[in-house]
Amino acid sequence: MPKTAIILGTGLGALVDHIEDKQYLPYSEIPNFPVSTVEGHSGNLIFGCLGGKRVMAMQGRFHYYEGYDMKQVTFPVRVMKALGVETLFVSNAAGGMNKEFVVGDVMIITDHINLFPENPLRGKNYNELGPRFPAMTEPYSKKFISLADEIAKEKNIRVMHGVYVGTPGPTFETPAEYEYFRIIGGDAVGMSTVPEVIVANHAGMKVFGVSVITDLGGKDITEVPSHEEVQKAAETAQPKMMEIIRQMVARL
Ligand code: HPA
Repeated sequence: MPKTAIILGTGLGALVDHIEDKQYLPYSEIPNFPVSTVEGHSGNLIFGCLGGKRVMAMQGRFHYYEGYDMKQVTFPVRVMKALGVETLFVSNAAGGMNKEFVVGDVMIITDHINLFPENPLRGKNYNELGPRFPAMTEPYSKKFISLADEIAKEKNIRVMHGVYVGTPGPTFETPAEYEYFRIIGGDAVGMSTVPEVIVANHAGMKVFGVSVITDLGGKDITEVPSHEEVQKAAETAQPKMMEIIRQMVARL
């Protein structure tokens, strides 16, 4: 059983091409697993090898905006925990508010701000899964962030650091909202990741997260983001992100 799991975000699903000796398990065949509804998200749990290590990858994730509740969105992380996963890699496409960012940048997530209307841990706590009031002091492992920085330097990949703001979507932000998220400390905004990372932390997993900046937002920015553009930008930036993740898994 793999000790490492990877959740692949929008436009980043081709990372699975780098996983060897793959076994595909369609979500539709797993009891209680939701099924992905968004264009560009295929639904498979993949078991295989990456960087010489056994990994489990989610090809396609469940978004709150699709109508799933938080328990459904995070159910796969609970399954990972039950299977013995200790390390979670998450990736996503995100809009950049940080003025230093350009489209195609890779942002290592150092922290997040949860702006979803509900916390996935709301309700009865299962003590066997984790504590009632989990600390969120190091939601993204500092050790992994350093390792990623080291790899990026070695491979000459430009990486930025930043805080990910998680919103329910499905609207992209108004100019004032991008501005607001920047002022409260965000560097990038997206519609995923935060619920899964909360549940992973609850379960005692170490997390590494990375965003691909697919569009920019703010009061001076007039370009209109679209799902197609987000996918295209994510696909272009994908090799950089892949290299970092593969090297990290190999060195775990
Ligand atoms: N906002 C929210 N989610 C996103 C964006 C954005 O600009 N880009 C990609 N996902």
